[in-house]
Amino acid sequence: MLHKSPHPDLHEPPLVQIRGLAAGYHGNRVIDDVSLDIMRNDFAALLGPSGSGKTTVLRAIVGAADVYAGDVLFRGESVRKSRPRIGYVPQLEAIDWNFPVTVEQVVLMGATRNAPLFPWFRRKDRLKAGKILERLGLDGLANRQIRELSGGQQQRVFLGRALVSEPDILLLDEPTAGVDMKTRDDVLHLLDELNHQGIAILMTTHEINAVAAHLPRVICMNGRILADGTPRDVLTPDVLKATYGAEMPVTEYRGMTLVAETPHRFGAAARNGGSSGNGNAGTGHGHGDNGHVHEEVVAEVPACD
Ligand SMILES: Nc1ncnc2c1ncn2[C@@H]1O[C@H](COP(=O)(O)OP(=O)(O)O)[C@@H](O)[C@H]1O
Ligand SMILES: [Mg+2]
Repeated sequence: MLHKSPHPDLHEPPLVQIRGLAAGYHGNRVIDDVSLDIMRNDFAALLGPSGSGKTTVLRAIVGAADVYAGDVLFRGESVRKSRPRIGYVPQLEAIDWNFPVTVEQVVLMGATRNAPLFPWFRRKDRLKAGKILERLGLDGLANRQIRELSGGQQQRVFLGRALVSEPDILLLDEPTAGVDMKTRDDVLHLLDELNHQGIAILMTTHEINAVAAHLPRVICMNGRILADGTPRDVLTPDVLKATYGAEMPVTEYRGMTLVAETPHRFGAAARNGGSSGNGNAGTGHGHGDNGHVHEEVVAEVPACD
């Protein structure tokens, strides 16, 4: 386990304060009454089914969703007024892969975020990008086209793009979707390292067990916040039922919380009682949307450190 317990309390104001937030798009409320504090040293996961408003929470923090009530403060100031130092890593699915762009150019886009896109970059920024690529294990790939990379490498390139602006907080939208188990653990370890270097991290994911094993804080939501705390406190059958609308047995194994991820047995598979059905095939959210059987959950117990 990366963290044995949540970080000790900091006696300072939260980095991000979400206060009674209602937000969405074109007048439609997607999230309601959301209040959350993100501390400078947080490493937290936002869990919830597809459509539950996870991405909208992240977008509201960067000021990219319509706000109908409440506010988001960054270091005490509304994100609608200031330009906070926030690194946003979108879902890989949201990216147009036909756009010809190299690894270095993607990273440098993070440095020119506030300026019009231009084809030359400052030497200082290129040096910084080089250091970041090295830190992310991507040295040697600077001139490669981004579309030629593996999913795990692409994820790290977009992490680099967020890091080049030296953010105080990283928001990552499903950084572990569509990658294999080893890459997923590598991504989580990398995020843990960044967290220990002083960057707050809030990520969305469908991977309940990976989060339970690696992260000190879990937030469950479905339009509203349903629970917030340590994996052990939050990942209970009641909270999971309220979040996913399905019975999800929870067990303890060697001090770790393990959730049998059965909510994906919706529809015909659930009615037939089959465990290999896949009612949500093709939604592209990694194995979290596949028919998850108990054996797989047990196989997922990582080598804790
Ligand atoms: N850009 C958008 N314009 C209009 N509606 C959107 C937009 N993005 C998301 N939505 C809607 O908001 C709802 C919640 O979406 P989202 O925050 O993406 O949930 P999640 O990330 O948990 O899957 C969905 O019903 C979706 O259709
Ligand atoms: Mg989303």
